[in-house]
Amino acid sequence: MTVREILKMGDPRLLRVAEPVREFGTPAMDALIADMFDTMHDANGAGLAAPQIGVNLQLVIFGFKDNGRYPDAPAVPQTVLINPVLTPLSDEKEEAFEGCLSVPGLRGSVPRFTRLRYEGVDQHGQRIVREVDGFHARVVQHEVDHLLGILYPMRIVDFSKFGYTQVMFPDLDPDDDD
Ligand code: NI
Repeated sequence: MTVREILKMGDPRLLRVAEPVREFGTPAMDALIADMFDTMHDANGAGLAAPQIGVNLQLVIFGFKDNGRYPDAPAVPQTVLINPVLTPLSDEKEEAFEGCLSVPGLRGSVPRFTRLRYEGVDQHGQRIVREVDGFHARVVQHEVDHLLGILYPMRIVDFSKFGYTQVMFPDLDPDDDD
C-alpha cells in the first residue's frame, strides 16, 4: 500500500492540462492506479485525479458505497476513467457543496450540469459510456476538471457559499476533511 502525497491548491502542477494516456495495462499504469486508490481511501475521498498526486495524465478514479465527507450522497460505482469526454445532456445546472482533497478544510457551492454522458476507457482499455445525473454527475465533473487544471473554487459563482467545513458543517467528522 502506497499512499502518495496529495498536492494542495497553489501548486502549479494542479493547473496543468493533462496528457492523454496512450498505454494500457502496463505494470507502471497498474501501480499508479493502485496507489491512487490507496491514497483516495486513506483520505476518505470520493474521487481522485492523477494530477493531484503530480502525475499529469488524463486518469481519474472515483466511487464509494458511503462516504463520511458526503454523508447524504448516494453510492457511486467504483470507476477508473481514462481519457474522458463529458457531454451535458441538457443545459440544466444545479448548485451543491463540494470539497476537494487538494483544498483541505473548505467547502464551496458549485454549479454543475445535472445530467451528462461520460465516455472514456478503463485501465484495460475497455470502453466506458454512461449517462448519469445528480451526485454521480457532479463527481465526474469535479474530477475531470482536475484534468483541465481547474479546481472547484474557480467554478464558484456565489462566494457567500464558500467557507470552512468546520464552520458550515459542524456535524461532519473533521477527520474527513483534513
Ligand atoms: Ni478535487
